[in-house]
Amino acid sequence: MSDAAAGPAERWFGDCFGGQPDGVWRAPGRANLIGEHTDYNQGWVLPFALDLGVTVAASRRDDGVLAICSRQAPGAPVELPMASVAPGAVTGWAAYPAGVAWALRKAGHRLAGGASLAVDSDLPQGAGLSSSAALECATALALAGLYGLDLPRRELATLAWRAENDFVGVPSGIMDQSASLLCKAGHALLLDCRTGETADVPLDPAGAGLALVLVDTGARHTLGDGRYAERRSECERAAALLGAGSLRDVTSLAAVAGLADPVLRRRARHVITENRRVNEAVVLLSGGDMAGVGAVLRASHVSLRDDFEVSWPEADVAVDAAAAAGALGARMMGGGFGGSALALVPAEQRTVSAAITAEFARRGWPPPVFLQAVPSAGALRLR
Ligand code: GLA
Repeated sequence: MSDAAAGPAERWFGDCFGGQPDGVWRAPGRANLIGEHTDYNQGWVLPFALDLGVTVAASRRDDGVLAICSRQAPGAPVELPMASVAPGAVTGWAAYPAGVAWALRKAGHRLAGGASLAVDSDLPQGAGLSSSAALECATALALAGLYGLDLPRRELATLAWRAENDFVGVPSGIMDQSASLLCKAGHALLLDCRTGETADVPLDPAGAGLALVLVDTGARHTLGDGRYAERRSECERAAALLGAGSLRDVTSLAAVAGLADPVLRRRARHVITENRRVNEAVVLLSGGDMAGVGAVLRASHVSLRDDFEVSWPEADVAVDAAAAAGALGARMMGGGFGGSALALVPAEQRTVSAAITAEFARRGWPPPVFLQAVPSAGALRLR
């Protein structure tokens, strides 16, 4: 990730709090190549870090106050005594960094003096690129850095995830925080969401004459609107009916076909086939067959649309238009109901984006926004 974000964040710190920060930390957003709605089913995911992210310029304090300001949310800094940071004490964007401070303290780490955090971001919000995880992870690294806490990245990811689930109240899985903290440049991260085991899988679309393009469809979603939680509980019910602790342990589609409820049958079938697709993608990438991943993306979209039923009209139109215009594969990405699609296209991809834009225009929808998804490095200290 580029160093260019450090200067503006330092200046923003000066505007908010005066002087120079003790340090500057940055954490990226993520795209997910494959493995959707598998993380909270204890399965496998294959995300990669983006070149866009959240930067936090920060200093230690000695008055016990946590002060946070965001360049994307103008107004006076949010200030509260560190000792009183508890779920419900803060809402809105500041709940994410405050939640991380709370999770660190709850895990027994001392942050007694407080901290000043100046947040800056170049990640679009609500586009399904994990801007909240990036904010949490940049904050976690900053607080750990300021207080000399020597915490393994996996533990930081878990604490950031706790902040989101137990403090902010969004029932997400562990994928986004893991991707932000653990990804390596030029690689996707294969994560076993049960064991926490990881492997770096080479991901070099450009080397294969291809590109991964994100299509921000403009439709906005929130994981807190109940539909994501509903999918989680459907998966839990299906696993229980199949006598398994989680759908990770169900591998037989024949067993799934025996479920009486057709909805649960479809949900379980998606999770089981999606876990298989993660494995297929890893085998293809490890064998240098980037183009072969296209078919896996196409199959994933059909499964997310028809079995898991989390796609949305703009994503379906983008995926179909991409395929018709020569993409090797495309699929909706993330939790669903809004956000971005991901397309694997020939490096000269203008025909694909033009075709998608034309289909949006035909329906009177605002034009989508395209972004090259370059597999980038995970979170780091910039200064
Ligand atoms: C959101 C959640 C992730 C994951 C995806 C779906 O991005 O934050 O934990 O569940 O949806 O794969």
